[in-house]
Amino acid sequence: MASLNTQSRKHARRQQNRPLAGSLLALAIGFGVATAHADDALPKLPTKTPLKVGFAQTESNNPWRLAETKSFKDIAAKCGWQVVMTDANGSNSKQVSDIQSMIAQHVDLLVFPPREEKPLAPVVLQAKKAGIPVILVDRDVDQSVAKAGRDYITFIGSDFIDQGHRAADWLVKATGGKAKIIELEGTTGASAANDRKKGFDEIIAKNPGMTIIASQSGDFARDKGRQVMETLLQAHPEVTAVYAHNDEMALGAIAAIKAAGKQPGKDIQIVTIDGTKGGMDAIAAGELGASVQSSPFFGPLACDVAQRYAKGEKIPTWVKVSDRFYDKSNVQQSMQYGY
Ligand code: AHR
Repeated sequence: MASLNTQSRKHARRQQNRPLAGSLLALAIGFGVATAHADDALPKLPTKTPLKVGFAQTESNNPWRLAETKSFKDIAAKCGWQVVMTDANGSNSKQVSDIQSMIAQHVDLLVFPPREEKPLAPVVLQAKKAGIPVILVDRDVDQSVAKAGRDYITFIGSDFIDQGHRAADWLVKATGGKAKIIELEGTTGASAANDRKKGFDEIIAKNPGMTIIASQSGDFARDKGRQVMETLLQAHPEVTAVYAHNDEMALGAIAAIKAAGKQPGKDIQIVTIDGTKGGMDAIAAGELGASVQSSPFFGPLACDVAQRYAKGEKIPTWVKVSDRFYDKSNVQQSMQYGY
């Protein structure tokens, strides 16, 4: 499982300091100064057991989502949570209505990964107005609408921009700084897709021998990734590298590349993000070059944050998860981290 660090960093997109303070506590979470405005206080969380917690999942179409949901199921009894779960089946409006119905049921705490940054921001404010505290996990919302520390307790998640940087750094090295790249983007409007693109594109822009020849969304889904790659391969037969925003789309791209009579890992270098078992197997097989891990195990972290918040501790506005990195040099000995 990924560890947490306590560094304070300026998040470029948020344009906001999210201070993380010193002491290394249980689960290695550091607590610093929250940014809640005194006159605009966050709702309180009762210390009762069981605590009724709403977890509103975005979809369940890949191993990453399944691992994330499982981590909440696994922690529930241990944390004293009675969890109400919903699945939005890939629909923003369903996720919004799922959350609204949890608000109507008066859950004690809401935890969810917002499918997209903008459509899911207003419901965070609705929860606050109803007196229900919110923890966002995995993806964040538009900070110009709802702000961590003011409108919800915190965002627990990876640095997606940094993931994009790490993927690009690997590709620059693997290709000797010369590549014609197809980028398979995640769900349009999701913070994970926006930031993974931003981070990757920033590094590529500094390498004149590297060009992104096409960039299109595959919606973080394997079959969509395969279909998009099939089309882009026909339009751009000169492609020498692929950056996929998640392992599932990379696995779809590998299928499309093989179907086109090319060899993934030889004719076309591929780099991706997630660190799923399927991605790691593809690295071991020499078809996928590298995968930056993106930890989906938020259940124990959300439990820890909620318990500390209920006791009145100050929570940093971003509890940052740090991620591993897999390529052929370490994939065999890292298999136990796959999911
Ligand atoms: O937000 C995290 C991304 O969403 C994961 O990379 C992906 O697999 C998931 O659907």
